[in-house]
Amino acid sequence: MAVSINGLKRTVMCGEVTEEYIGKRITVMGWVQRKRNLGSLVFIDLRDIKGILQAVFGEEINKEAFAIADTLKSEYCVAITGEVVRRESPNNSMVTGQVELKGEEVVIFSESETPPIYIKEDLDAAENIRLKYRYLDLRRPDMQKLFVIRHKTTSIIRNYLSDHGFLEMETPILTKSTPEGARDYLVPSRNYNGQFYALPQSPQLFKQLLMVSGFDRYYQIAKCFRDEDLRANRQPEFTQVDMELSFVDMDDVMTLNEGLISKVFKEVLNVDVKTPFMRMPYKEAMDKYGSDKPDIRFGMEINDITNIVSDMDFVVFKSNIEEGGFVKAINFEGGAALGRKQIDKLVDFAKDHKAKGLIWIAYKEDGVKSSIAKFLSEEKANEIKEAMGAKDGDLVLIVSDAYKNAVESLGALRLHIAKEFDLIKNKDEFKFLWVTEFPLLSYDEEEKRYVAEHHPFTMPMDEDLELLTTDPLKVRAKAYDMVLNGEELGGGSIRIHDSKLQEKLFNTIGFSDEEAEEKFGFLLQAFKFGPPPHGGLAFGLDRMIMFLGGTDNIKDVITFPKNQNAACPMTEAPGMVDEKQLKELGIKVIEKEDK
Ligand code: AMO
Repeated sequence: MAVSINGLKRTVMCGEVTEEYIGKRITVMGWVQRKRNLGSLVFIDLRDIKGILQAVFGEEINKEAFAIADTLKSEYCVAITGEVVRRESPNNSMVTGQVELKGEEVVIFSESETPPIYIKEDLDAAENIRLKYRYLDLRRPDMQKLFVIRHKTTSIIRNYLSDHGFLEMETPILTKSTPEGARDYLVPSRNYNGQFYALPQSPQLFKQLLMVSGFDRYYQIAKCFRDEDLRANRQPEFTQVDMELSFVDMDDVMTLNEGLISKVFKEVLNVDVKTPFMRMPYKEAMDKYGSDKPDIRFGMEINDITNIVSDMDFVVFKSNIEEGGFVKAINFEGGAALGRKQIDKLVDFAKDHKAKGLIWIAYKEDGVKSSIAKFLSEEKANEIKEAMGAKDGDLVLIVSDAYKNAVESLGALRLHIAKEFDLIKNKDEFKFLWVTEFPLLSYDEEEKRYVAEHHPFTMPMDEDLELLTTDPLKVRAKAYDMVLNGEELGGGSIRIHDSKLQEKLFNTIGFSDEEAEEKFGFLLQAFKFGPPPHGGLAFGLDRMIMFLGGTDNIKDVITFPKNQNAACPMTEAPGMVDEKQLKELGIKVIEKEDK
């Protein structure tokens, strides 16, 4: 029954047919969303990417078209021609709801089997089925909307960066390991048996080389590959808006990107984002929020009450403080009304997040209740209450532990409480900030050496350069992360362009010359030829689209994503390959032993 499109021309998209088309003869093309047969009339809802238009067929309009229309089924791909008329019973919830198309001709391009998933909004089909039939999942209007947003966003970004002197340039996919620190995806080489290309975890080193080449400002909408455990906001293959700029310092990069983000949010969502964004040193973020990506849409900040409780005769506090630990607390406003079971759940949550325990004090109208009532004088309870800014009805939650465990467990608990008790009232609010002054290095207990927190080309802060020899862990980096509502949207740094300083850093992290040469030799070589001061940043584009599209699942914004096990249920990748291919690559597969 399929008919070629010969001679038949689409004149308008379904979703665009409004009252101004009344009286016009049009041809629309799309998929049958729904057919209703009312005996003498057949109604077809026809869908394309712009929306849905109702067409009506009847013997009196056109007998032949009526007969064909009656054979149509869901998801048949068809063209309908006829005159646009005003609807007798308008549907005000549809853009095209005031009109309908009198079906005078219908051409079936192709028929469709009954689709395995409904093509409709808010589908709750199992994810693996949606991914197996991804092309049908992508026919759904709410999915298509996300990709329209994605397109619009990348167009705005391209224009903005182009207007600010950036060149869009590509970098290789078959390359060597990059320094982002995740596990690499490897591609075996046929020419060099036993050798592998690594897929880039980011274009980091290449973009720095482009600065050495003098391109001044580079950007790329770049595919990146990281073989890491997947989460709701992580995919093995994801996209960055990646950029690098010459002759800049931190402020230049941050200001330029605030401009970019406010333009994107204005043009895509009509939301005014206030600039400049708040800047919060890493230390403050950890102290107050127990996280380097704080969600500042609500309070419940972490307070240090070590000094207040240090004179208490309570061994948990005493021994922890003696060992150099801290006593940290948050105030859950109104939390005193919680039942014991609910509080116990909070205790379990904190323990699951590495806290040794969770102590609670409930300031009830009829007195103070606490898990450490025996050790808590009325006076001390009041002192803590005052220090925490608590009032009657509040619940103070305390962790006594080493610094990291104390703040991180309370930070996680704070987010958990906000979610569980719906404390974030305005879901459409966007709270941006920069987290700055990250530590340059951390100490790897296993390897017994310092390691770079960001990557080993990150520039230390000018005022901390001396500390690189005396107290390396105190050195702060010229690195910055853009955080939105508790998610890391992007991050970057100013890079080292001075070979002496680079050498010093490599020495500090125990990188021998050979190691440095083996890993980044080509970059170090390039840096012998007048590298400009430079720095950059990369946004997670998929994460940005998640915010703009209002979804919390990264798979929704990627055309053909992988499932939780990094597989594609549609193509069935990864898959076996021919023995011949393996032979060419000099590869022998050995069965993995069960762990
Ligand atoms: P970084 O590793 O912080 O920096 O990555 C930049 C941004 O990319 C996003 N992102 C991811 N998105 C989805 N799935 C993933 N698996 C994933 N991993 C990271 C995050 C993150 O903020 N080369 C540096 C940038 C620079 O220094 O210029 C880099 O890659 O939103």
